[in-house]
Amino acid sequence: MTRHICLTLCLSCLSILLTVLAVWDHLPDHRILHIRTSDTDREPTATKVTRELSVSPSLLDVTNFSIKSHSVFRSYRRVRSVTECSATPEKRFDCARDRALSRAECQSRGCCYVPLPADLSGGPPWCFYPPSYPGYTMGPFVPTSKGRAANLTRPKPSFLPRDITALRLEVAEETSSRLHITLKDPSFPRYEVPLSPPPSEQSSGIKNPLYDIKFHSDPFGFVVRRKSNGRVLLDTTVAPLLFADQYLQMSTSLPSPLISGLGEHYTPITLDLNWTSVTLWNKDMAPHSDANLYGSHPFWLVQEGDGLAHGAFLFNSNAMEVVLQPMPALTIVSLGGILDLYVFLGPDPESVVRQYQEVIGYPMMPPYWALGFHLCRWGYRSTNETRSVVQRMHEANFPLDVQWNDLDYANKRRVFTFDPVQFGDLPEMVQEFHQKGMRYVLILDPGISSTAQPGSYWPYDEGLRRGVFIKNSTGHTLIGKVWPGPTAFPDFTNPEAVHWWEECIRDFHAKVPVDGLWIDMNEPASFVHGSVDGCPDTDLEKPPYVPDIIGSQLSFGTLCMSGQQNLSTHYNLHNLYGLTEAIATYSALLKVRGSRPFVLSRSSFPGLGRFSGHWTGDVRSDWEQLRYSVPAVLLFGLFGVPLVGADVCGFGGDTNEELCVRWTQLGAFYPFMRNHNDRPNAPQEPFVFSQEAQAAMRSALLLRYSLLPFLYTLFHRAHTSADTVARPLFLEFPTDDNSRTIDRQFLWGSSLLISPVLEQGSVELSAYVPPGMWYSLHDGQPCHSKGQYFTLSAPLDTINIHVRGGHILPQQEPALTTTAARSNPFSLTVALSNEGWASGELYWDDGDSLDTYERGDYSHILFTAGQSRLVSDPVVLNGALDGLILGNLRVFGVPSSPKAVLANGEIVTDFTYQSTTMSLTVASLSLPMTEEFTVQWIL
Ligand SMILES: *[C@@H]1O[C@H](CO)[C@@H](O)[C@H](O)[C@H]1NC(C)=O
Ligand SMILES: *[C@@H]1O[C@H](CO)[C@@H](O)[C@H](O)[C@H]1NC(C)=O
Ligand SMILES: *[C@@H]1O[C@H](CO)[C@@H](O)[C@H](O)[C@H]1NC(C)=O
Ligand SMILES: *[C@@H]1O[C@H](CO)[C@@H](O)[C@H](O)[C@H]1NC(C)=O
Ligand SMILES: *[C@@H]1O[C@H](CO)[C@@H](O)[C@H](O)[C@H]1NC(C)=O
Ligand SMILES: *[C@@H]1O[C@H](CO)[C@@H](O)[C@H](O)[C@H]1NC(C)=O
Repeated sequence: MTRHICLTLCLSCLSILLTVLAVWDHLPDHRILHIRTSDTDREPTATKVTRELSVSPSLLDVTNFSIKSHSVFRSYRRVRSVTECSATPEKRFDCARDRALSRAECQSRGCCYVPLPADLSGGPPWCFYPPSYPGYTMGPFVPTSKGRAANLTRPKPSFLPRDITALRLEVAEETSSRLHITLKDPSFPRYEVPLSPPPSEQSSGIKNPLYDIKFHSDPFGFVVRRKSNGRVLLDTTVAPLLFADQYLQMSTSLPSPLISGLGEHYTPITLDLNWTSVTLWNKDMAPHSDANLYGSHPFWLVQEGDGLAHGAFLFNSNAMEVVLQPMPALTIVSLGGILDLYVFLGPDPESVVRQYQEVIGYPMMPPYWALGFHLCRWGYRSTNETRSVVQRMHEANFPLDVQWNDLDYANKRRVFTFDPVQFGDLPEMVQEFHQKGMRYVLILDPGISSTAQPGSYWPYDEGLRRGVFIKNSTGHTLIGKVWPGPTAFPDFTNPEAVHWWEECIRDFHAKVPVDGLWIDMNEPASFVHGSVDGCPDTDLEKPPYVPDIIGSQLSFGTLCMSGQQNLSTHYNLHNLYGLTEAIATYSALLKVRGSRPFVLSRSSFPGLGRFSGHWTGDVRSDWEQLRYSVPAVLLFGLFGVPLVGADVCGFGGDTNEELCVRWTQLGAFYPFMRNHNDRPNAPQEPFVFSQEAQAAMRSALLLRYSLLPFLYTLFHRAHTSADTVARPLFLEFPTDDNSRTIDRQFLWGSSLLISPVLEQGSVELSAYVPPGMWYSLHDGQPCHSKGQYFTLSAPLDTINIHVRGGHILPQQEPALTTTAARSNPFSLTVALSNEGWASGELYWDDGDSLDTYERGDYSHILFTAGQSRLVSDPVVLNGALDGLILGNLRVFGVPSSPKAVLANGEIVTDFTYQSTTMSLTVASLSLPMTEEFTVQWIL
C-alpha cells in the first residue's frame, strides 16, 4: 500500500462498490488514513487526512476496519473537496510553479485543481497544494555544538527530478534576536555560499529570546512566533517544503503585507503582493519594472503593523524567485545550494537592519572625499576634454571633488591601458587634479581582452599563464564578448586571480595614480550568451525550472552556467561575481594606495557594503526614474550598502533643464552623488544650463557640502553601529501609520527630512511631516506636526529640508572641494525641541586613513543644548581637528530675542534674531573645536 498518494477521484468510481480499508497511524501531529479500493483495475491509492477531517471518535480507536458501502467514500470526498481544496484564492499555493499542468497532471501530483474566473487570470493558481500534502517527516532532535539537529525524510520522492529525500535540519538560537535554520543534504555536500558569516554569540545560554519556534513533524514545517505577543512571523506549514537538486522551495505566511527588500528591482519601498514575483539573478539591465537587475539581496523586512518588525535572510546565491501573494505569504524557489535561513526579531525595524548586518558585515567607512560631488560621462574623449570639464566646473563655481572617465580612456577599450593619443598624458592630468585637491576615478571592467598580440597585453598573457580565468566545461578559457571584443573573465574566487588582479592594479596605478575604481559590467555582462562557443546542453544550462528572468535563459547576456570557477560552477557563483570582484579590488587598492579604498560596484550581493558603494545603474533621464531612485537608494541602505546613489540627471536619453535641476537637488541628498551621462546624449554638466538653473544646482551642491560633517558622522555610525544613512521614514517612526510606505521623502539619520520635488512642473509639494517639532533648514521656520501633510512651496531653486527638533547638526563652510572645505570653520544648527533641548555629535578624522576609528585616530565631540545654552564636549581628541574653529551657530526655536549672547562667558555682538521664525544666528565666533565651549543666549 502506498501511503502518500492522494486518492484520485473519478465519478465512475462512485458507481463501484468499494471496500475501503483504512488504517490510522498515530503520529504526533495528525493521523493518516489509508484507503484501498477493491477495484482491482486500479492502482491501490491512499490519502492522508489531517485532524481537520471530522471522523467519529470511535473510528480513531480502531486500527483496521472495513466498510462495505461507499457512504464513507462519499463523505470523505465531500470533506476533501470542502477542506482540502477549499482554500480561498489568496491562500492557494501554486502546485504548478515549475511548469503548467493540466487538470489530470495536477491531480496526479496529488494537488487540487479548481479553475477560477478568467478575470483572475495571472493571479491565484488553479492547481494548488491541499493542506495535507505529503512532505518530509522530522525525526527527533539531538543537541549539537551550535544548537540542535534532526533528520528529515520523505518516504517517497516528490514530483521533482533528482529529489533529495533525506535532509538534515539544524537549528541555532544564535542571539536573543537571531535564529538560524539550515536544511541540507547530510549524505552529499552541496554548494554553500563561500563567505563566512561572523561567528555567533555563545550559542548556549541565550537569555530571553524574542522568538519561539515550534516544529511540525509530519509534514515537516516550522512556525516562528514573536514571544511578546504570540504573533506568527513565519509559518512554513502553509505549503510543502521541496528540496531537489535544482529546485528548493519553501513557503511562509507573513503577518502583514508590508514587506520590503528582495532587491534589486525597480519597485516602491514596499512590494506588491498581488501575485507578483521577483527574481534574483544579477543582470546587466537598465532599471525597469518586472526585471531582475544588477544585484541579488535575498533579505526581507516586514513591518508588522504596530511598530514592530522582523526580517529574514536566505543565505543562498543561486538564481532565485520569490512569489508574493495577498494572503499575505511568500514562496521562495532557489535553483541550488542549501536552505540557510536567518530570522531577525528586531523588535523595531532599525534593529532588524542592524541584526542583518551583524550577519553580512557592517559597511566600510568611505573616504571623506567620496562624499563630495562626482562628475562623469561616457564620451569625454580625451584628457583635454576631461580637463576642460573640470575647468568649466571651477570657473562656474561648482564644487567638484572627483572627476571620472568612462571607457574612453582605455586603449582599444582594454582595461589597464590608456589611449596613447587621446589620453597620452593621463598620468599628468591625474596629478594636476591632485594638485587642485581633487580625486580621480576611472572605470574598470572585468572582461580581459583575449585578442591582443601575444606579448603586448600583460593582463591577458599573465592571466592565462597563471590560470586565473573562468574555464568552460571542457577546461579551456571561457571567451565571451564585451567592449574590447572577445574577453576572458577573471575568476575572483581563485586566490591566484586575486594576486594577479592586485598586480594589474599596482602596475597601472604606478602610471596613473587613480584614487578609486569603478567596477562596471560585473554581473558579469557579456554581449554573447554564454560564450563565443555557446554552452553545452546540460542540466546546469537548462535546469528543470528557470524563474522568470530577462532573456529566459540563465546564461543570457552572461557566461555559461557550466563555467568552471575555483570554488564551484558559475551556476552557483554567478550572483557573487561582482562581490568577489569588489573584494579583490578593495584589497588591491588598499595595498597599493595604503589608504581607505573607494570602489563603486554595479553588481551586488549581501556583504558588498563592506567593500564598495553602489550606483543604481543605467537609469533613464525621466521623471519616473527620478522618483523611483528614492526607494532604490533607501533599499540599498537596508541591504547594508549605505554609499549609494543614482546617476544624477539620468544616464540614458537626453535630460532637460528642469529635470536636471530637480535631480541635482535630490542627488545632493543621495549618500553618493555622481552626475553621469551616456555617450549619445545632450550634455548635462551643471555648467551647460541657464544661469537660473546653474544657481539652483550650485545652491544644492553647496548645501550638500555644508552638511558633509554631518553626513560623515552618519557614515561613521553606519560603519560602527550599522545605522542607516539615507533612512526610510518607517525606520525612524515605526509606530507612525502614515510613515509605512512613504518613499518620496526620506531622512538622513534621524534628524533631517528631505522632501524633493519629483514631478515635472511642480513648484510646490505635499510633504508628510512626521509627528514632532521640525524647522526649515533654510530659515528656521518652525513646523509643528501631528503627523500630517503640509503643502510646501518649492520653486525651482528650492529643495525642502527640515531639521528635527531635539537635534544638532555639525556643518562646515562649503568650498569647491572637500580638501578645501575640511579646513573651513564649522557651524552648528541647533534645532530645539519643544522643551528647549537638543543634542548632536561630530565624528572627525583625517578622512583618508584606514581604520582610524579602530586605531583611535579620530575626534568625537558631543553637543548639547538646553536652558538657553549650547555646550560642546570633546570626548575623544586625536588629531585632525587642530586649528579648526566653530565660526557660527544657528539656534531654531528660541522663543524671544536674547538680551545678550555670551561665548565662553564673553559678550558676542554679532548676532541676529528673527522673530518671525524664532531663530537666532550668532556669527563671527572663533571657538577652537578642540576645546570645550559654551554659548549662552540670555533671554
Ligand atoms: C492492519 O491491516 C494491515 C493490512 O492488512 C496489516 O498488515 C496489519 O497487521 C493490520 N494491523 C492490525 C493491528 O491488525
Ligand atoms: C540522522 O541520520 C544519520 C544518517 O544519515 C544518522 O547517522 C544519524 O544518527 C541520524 N540522527 C538522528 C538524530 O536520527
Ligand atoms: C491584482 O491584479 C489583478 C490583475 O492584474 C487586478 O485585476 C486586481 O485589481 C489587482 N488587485 C489589487 C488589490 O490590486
Ligand atoms: C591638448 O591641448 C594641448 C594644449 O592646447 C595641445 O597641445 C594638445 O595637442 C591637445 N591634445 C589633444 C590630444 O588634443
Ligand atoms: C571551450 O573552449 C574551447 C576553446 O575556445 C572550444 O574549442 C570548446 O568548444 C569550448 N567548449 C565548450 C563546451 O564550449
Ligand atoms: C583553486 O585555487 C587554488 C589556489 O590557486 C589551487 O590550489 C586549486 O587547485 C584551485 N582549485 C580548483 C578547483 O581550481
